Amino acid sequence: MLSISLEEFLIWKKKQLSKGGDQQSFAILLDCIGGLSASDLNLMSINLEGKLHLKNKLDFLESVWDDHLLNFCPIQYLCGITFWRDLKLKVTNKVLIPRPETELIIDIVFNLFRRKSEKLFFTELGTGSGAISIALALAYPSSDGVATDIDQDALEIATKNFINSSKQSNLKFYCGNWWSPLESFKGKIDLAISNPPYIPKDTYDKLPKEVKNFEPKVALLGGEDGLTHIRKIIQKAPLFLKEKGWLILENHFDQGEQVKQLLLKNQFTSIEIVKDLSGIGRFTIGRYK
Ligand SMILES: C[S@@+](CC[C@H](N)C(=O)[O-])C[C@H]1O[C@@H](n2cnc3c(N)ncnc32)[C@H](O)[C@@H]1O
Repeated sequence: MLSISLEEFLIWKKKQLSKGGDQQSFAILLDCIGGLSASDLNLMSINLEGKLHLKNKLDFLESVWDDHLLNFCPIQYLCGITFWRDLKLKVTNKVLIPRPETELIIDIVFNLFRRKSEKLFFTELGTGSGAISIALALAYPSSDGVATDIDQDALEIATKNFINSSKQSNLKFYCGNWWSPLESFKGKIDLAISNPPYIPKDTYDKLPKEVKNFEPKVALLGGEDGLTHIRKIIQKAPLFLKEKGWLILENHFDQGEQVKQLLLKNQFTSIEIVKDLSGIGRFTIGRYK
């Protein structure tokens, strides 16, 4: 541990932020590489005389910050960590950095299944870092979940994240194409969730560098119109869901109406387009018959 004065730290912090970047990314750097959490910093600001203790030298933190600013590499990949709801998750460039707007999926589930003692059998298709499935497995400890991904490297990260977040054993991981690893669960699923790749080709081509150059293409690109994977997931969902089972999908900001039509065509009822905190129809949910 290195000890420096609060004054020295605050001057250094001001200099770093004057180079660019946002407060939230800087907070991730301080927490993960500096060992200083947001609550540590709040306590420090009350005690201006104090010293603070860092896990690494300021020069090292600065070199990581410069790398982030100069090369557009997301700070989460440089630090190897992200925060999502109340989880601290390991991330590498093999997984999408779970987005804050996706956090709302968990609240949608809480509205559908209000009792935390519920014995659900849930699945997540395309789990990436495992964020959604891990949050659900922890929130519904009597439930069982299976999470899939096409990418074995992503599943290894998701598995580590589950082990690091919990002592529970109610979540299993399977590798494969959408529903295909779940053949033995046909007709048994109460709730299926997916935040699939849904970005249309022309939008993908114009994504900002920090996304396009670093995050996995397989996690983002949804084919020409963005709906290639959503179509596949919806078409097969009736085989796997129980009667009255729910499907929750995240979609691109303008796909809600098309996803609703796909659900209607496949015998879903109670369909609703759910807005995110910016008022965008980000999720489409429905019940199989
Ligand atoms: C948008 S990311 C979502 C990751 C994570 N669920 C989240 O919300 O942060 C989509 C995920 O789907 C996976 N994926 C892409 N194509 C797939 C396929 N054909 N079958 C299964 N998973 C797939 C990707 O590897 C990626 O992890």
